[in-house]
Parts: sequence; C-alpha cells; structure tokens
Amino acid sequence: MNIILFGPPGAGKGTQAQFIVKKHNYFQLSTGNLLRDEAKFNTPLGSQIENLISNGEFVKDEIVNTLMRKCLNNLKFRDRIIFDGYPRNIEQAKNLEVILAEFKQDIGHTIFLNVSKKTIEKRIMGRVTCEKCNMTFNEYFNKDQIDLHPCGIKHLKKRKDDNLDVVIARYDIYMKSTKPILDYYSKKTNFTEIDGSLEIEQITSKINDILKV
Ligand code: AP5
Ligand code: MG
Repeated sequence: MNIILFGPPGAGKGTQAQFIVKKHNYFQLSTGNLLRDEAKFNTPLGSQIENLISNGEFVKDEIVNTLMRKCLNNLKFRDRIIFDGYPRNIEQAKNLEVILAEFKQDIGHTIFLNVSKKTIEKRIMGRVTCEKCNMTFNEYFNKDQIDLHPCGIKHLKKRKDDNLDVVIARYDIYMKSTKPILDYYSKKTNFTEIDGSLEIEQITSKINDILKV
C-alpha cells in the first residue's frame, strides 16, 4: 500500500522513511530530495529552486506536481510509495487525488508524526545529511552512528535551510499551509497519529505495526 508520512519539518519523516525502505522494500518519494537534486543542475530552474529552498519557501505547485507525476508513472513504484513531504498544501492534496485516480492507485495509510516546535528546532540544528546516500543523523542524538556511517563522515553535510531563521519560517509555513490538510486526512479511517517525540526505534516499531510485520 502507499503511505503518506505527514509532519512538520524535522518531525522525522525522512528518518522513518529510510527504515521503511530498507525493511519493507518501499520507495521513498521525498519532494525535498527530488527538488534538492534538481537544484544541483546549473539551470535557471535549478537556481530558482535553490533560492526558494534556502529561504524555506515552497517551490511552485506546478513544478512539484510534475515531479510527482513522473514518479507515479513509474510502474516499479506501484503500491509501494512513501510520500515524504507531499502533499504540502490543499492544491497538492487535490492534485494527488487526481493523479492517483489516473494511475489507479490509492493511499493505504496516512501517518502523522506530531512533534512540538521546540523539539524540531533542536533536531534540525543538529542534523547532518549524507550527500551520497541521503541518510540523516544527528550530532546531539546519534553521534555514535555518525562515525560508523559507511559512506564516510566527509560526505555528511548541513543542509542550507537548516539554520534557526529558516527553520522558524518553515515551521510557520507548515502551520499555515500544510497542517490544515490534516483535517481532510484525519477524517479517513486509515489515519494514525504517532507521538513524534518518542525515540526513533519506538516510532519505527509503531510504523511496523501499521505495516503489519
Ligand atoms: P523537505 O526536505 O521535505 O524538508 P521538511 O519537510 O522541512 O522536513 P525535513 O526534511 O527538514 O525533516 P524530516 O521530517 O524529514 O526529519 P528528519 O528525518 O530529517 O523540504 C525542504 C524544502 O523543499 C521545503 O522547505 C520547500 O522549500 C521544498 N519542498 C519540499 N517539498 C515540497 C512540496 N511538496 N511543495 C513545495 N515545496 C517543497 O529528522 C530531523 C533530524 O532529527 C535528523 O537529524 C534525525 O536524525 C533526527 N531525528 C529524527 N527522528 C528523531 C527522533 N524520534 N528522536 C530524535 N531525533 C530524531
Ligand atoms: Mg526530510
């Protein structure tokens, strides 16, 4: 089944998605990762995306929706997608319905990782991300794993949008534009809210229960 991992910036969506991918052979469809890849190209579109992300602003719906359509069109992702960071506003939620129907797909479960602003700030300020494999670690919470990372520590970098001002801006946009779409998903039966302030392993275990393994 396809899953939406929903939550504010720093809630742990990427971290949990990576566990699901490994254990259950899923595909992580992170719009943030797709956009960061696009931003690496030295094109006007790449620079435009880079600018928006660095300031914590949303990239235009039409750009994100096009990326989404490309992925859903790929048969190898069928019924095994974790949506991480999408949809992020009402328009994107509507668009997702349309393209899912078009590709005869649906959402099997929506998981909301609920975390406070204070926790998020600390998590994001301590985050380092591997530029080779996209794994994320934390200088405050799992420093021991940083040293053991197989790609080597030289590839572990801070994201440009991981500074306090931008985190606050991203959180505000989340509260204004993204959180309201929870009203829609939380009314569906296949919706679970998880306390995102729990330990990483405790959250993974709750998600595994949902995936019935
Ligand atoms: P995106 O990359 O999606 O960023 P985000 O939504 O702000 O979320 P994050 O990736 O910051 O956090 P996360 O929930 O994945 O947490 P993580 O697992 O890393 O988007 C970036 C930008 O791209 C957006 O701002 C926007 O500009 C653009 N964009 C993306 N999608 C878009 C869309 N659909 N439309 C328009 N624009 C879009 O964890 C964070 C840290 O905490 C890590 O260090 C981790 O090790 C640690 N951690 C995780 N869980 C725990 C735990 N339980 N306990 C302790 N530490 C933990
Ligand atoms: Mg992420």
